[in-house]
Amino acid sequence: MQDESGQIAPVAAITGGAGGIGRACAATLMREGYRVILLDHDENALDMACGETGATAMALDVADPQAVGRVFARIDQAGQGLDLLVNNAGIAIRGPTLACRPQDWDRVIAVNLTGSFLCAQAAGRIMIPRKGGNIVNVASIMGLSGGLYANLSYQASKGGVVNLTRALAAEWACHGIRVNAVAPTWVDTDLIAPLKAEPGFVERVGLFTPMRRLASPGDVAEAVAFLAGPRAAMTTGHVLPVDGGFLAI
Ligand SMILES: NC(=O)c1ccc[n+]([C@@H]2O[C@H](COP(=O)([O-])OP(=O)(O)OC[C@H]3O[C@@H](n4cnc5c(N)ncnc54)[C@H](O)[C@@H]3O)[C@@H](O)[C@H]2O)c1
Repeated sequence: MQDESGQIAPVAAITGGAGGIGRACAATLMREGYRVILLDHDENALDMACGETGATAMALDVADPQAVGRVFARIDQAGQGLDLLVNNAGIAIRGPTLACRPQDWDRVIAVNLTGSFLCAQAAGRIMIPRKGGNIVNVASIMGLSGGLYANLSYQASKGGVVNLTRALAAEWACHGIRVNAVAPTWVDTDLIAPLKAEPGFVERVGLFTPMRRLASPGDVAEAVAFLAGPRAAMTTGHVLPVDGGFLAI
């Protein structure tokens, strides 16, 4: 697709694109001139997100290797390449470790970590022959700290995303592909609805956050756009906290 000046628009695919951070990334990246493809397993939410953002969409469960292969093959067949993958799909099944069922552990790892691997691998199959691209993984401060609320599977999955980012950056720099991550603090989206329902949640987070507020989805989207853009041309393998200072204290 060409923009108004006749330039070919770069293409960005955002997994979990129908969620709070995904939609904000879509809006920010579209403002920056990207053609955005939202990928999400929730087809109703995807329809609404398309209506809201004007992006295109494809249904995808990132934990399903065959589905990932099919969807990225369709993106490739469209012939416009893939300039940016935002690995953003994620779930949390919170609770004390002694109550964590193996199937819950497996699902969180499958979506958050294996899904990031599968989509990065599929994106690499498009980007490597074209000698360039960008991947931004949505990790979490939970991948860099022990957190405040018991959530072992999520913490482990996001720690994995942090090191997946470094390892992929080191391996794929020679192909012109940069791989970075953002590590948001608590962001006001559906993901934290159960926590927000707990009395005193916002106040407790505020105690541990020098900036004394939750992040907005737009705060995260700006960091994603920065890491994907030319101002970060020499930056790869890094994790940028978007945390109001949580990790600084
Ligand atoms: N909200 C926060 O406090 C916070 C903090 C740090 C990191 N994050 C991370 O940000 C990312 C986006 O989360 P959000 O806050 O926008 O939450 P959200 O619940 O609004 O969005 C998550 C999206 O991922 C989709 N999704 C879930 N499983 C999927 C699967 N198997 N395949 C495809 N899509 C799937 C959901 O349908 C949803 O649209 C996640 O990776 C999350 O871990 C969120």
